[in-house]
Amino acid sequence: MLLVTGGAGFIGSNFVLDWLTQNSEPIVNLDKLTYAGNLENLQSLKDNSNHIFVKGDIADSALVSELLQKYKVRAVINFAAESHVDRSIHGPGEFIQTNVIGTFNLLECARNYWNTLAQKEKESFRFLHVSTDEVFGSLGAKDPAFTEQHRYEPNSPYSASKAASDHLVRAWLHTYGMPVLTTNCSNNYGPYHFPEKLIPLVIHNALKGKPLPIYGDGQQIRDWLYVTDHCSAIRCVLEKGLVGETYNIGGCNEKANLQVVHTICDLLDAKMPKTDGTSYKNQITFVTDRPGHDKRYAMDASKIERELGWRPAQTFETGMAKTVDWYLNNSQWTENVTSGAYRDWVAKQYV
Ligand code: NAD
Ligand code: TYD
Repeated sequence: MLLVTGGAGFIGSNFVLDWLTQNSEPIVNLDKLTYAGNLENLQSLKDNSNHIFVKGDIADSALVSELLQKYKVRAVINFAAESHVDRSIHGPGEFIQTNVIGTFNLLECARNYWNTLAQKEKESFRFLHVSTDEVFGSLGAKDPAFTEQHRYEPNSPYSASKAASDHLVRAWLHTYGMPVLTTNCSNNYGPYHFPEKLIPLVIHNALKGKPLPIYGDGQQIRDWLYVTDHCSAIRCVLEKGLVGETYNIGGCNEKANLQVVHTICDLLDAKMPKTDGTSYKNQITFVTDRPGHDKRYAMDASKIERELGWRPAQTFETGMAKTVDWYLNNSQWTENVTSGAYRDWVAKQYV
């Protein structure tokens, strides 16, 4: 049995869905169901006895310990986090609580449980921590991409809290010998992506005839990876990764934000043309930049390819086309998540 945390969020739910399609091993899915957690993502699993959903907090040690023992967990995959940089700027407290204290608690519960295991199970147990490229800070235009050796230079409350959690995971290996793995991935996109993040927000706003907000000059660069490629990389690291190693995951798809938004507009112009014949690009609006906005992220994913044989299956073009199609075919999902709380966030962020 796997214990997946945050499995009702964007990447976690994609991981759970993919895993249960491809494996007979069950998952216990622990998620607090914050604004970002959505059981609708897991609707197709409602009759699947290999999916056990538990609403709860990774910082709840009694609950986490109970789940580890009850389900004889052989691996923990920690997706649970507060994940939105802009929200971390407005209110960093929740980020420290879940990303730092929550991960600490999960590690401690896992360590206590791991210590009770027989030698064979102890050796095969894994704690896989899912992290981000943002812990490495920002690159200049001509700098080489981040390798696993790049120094940690987080710049936002979000990335600082993720960096702190990565350090805790590292320390639990070196101090207690816990069999941990850490993955640092670039920006994901795809189905079930909450429309506060750039790509789903732009698709949603475009279809609603609303402004497409570009922070600053729109020349900041991100390295985009289709979400199911991230999920396949995590499966690969869980199966073949060497204990204590960290693996960078990326799509080799560096794009400026404005270029990403133009791609979305071109796809929508072709698939869902506006009745007045104009382009969705006319809705692009430049807004105040994010404070401390990181200029460029780029991942060197050669280690995971060389050592574990992982490569992304999607290109930026195929992934973006699939993503736009998904949002066009699942408009009810977006309608359901863009409720009152979502509207309050948009009003606060885009005054
Ligand atoms: P998300 O915000 O969509 O989902 C997070 C999930 O965690 C939600 O379901 C939420 O309810 C749950 N959660 C939050 N606090 C919790 C708590 N205290 N206890 C239990 N559950 C809790 O995030 P995501 O985009 O799916 O990211 C998942 C992980 O991947 C995060 O750790 C994030 O740092 C990392 N990551 C994300 C990206 C990206 O582009 N989205 C890239 C690299 C790494
Ligand atoms: P985001 O999806 O929030 O991911 P992250 O900040 O973790 O990289 O943002 C991606 C990029 O898009 C980032 O450079 C900020 C920018 N952005 C906008 O220009 N406008 C927006 O409305 C949002 C949400 C993001």
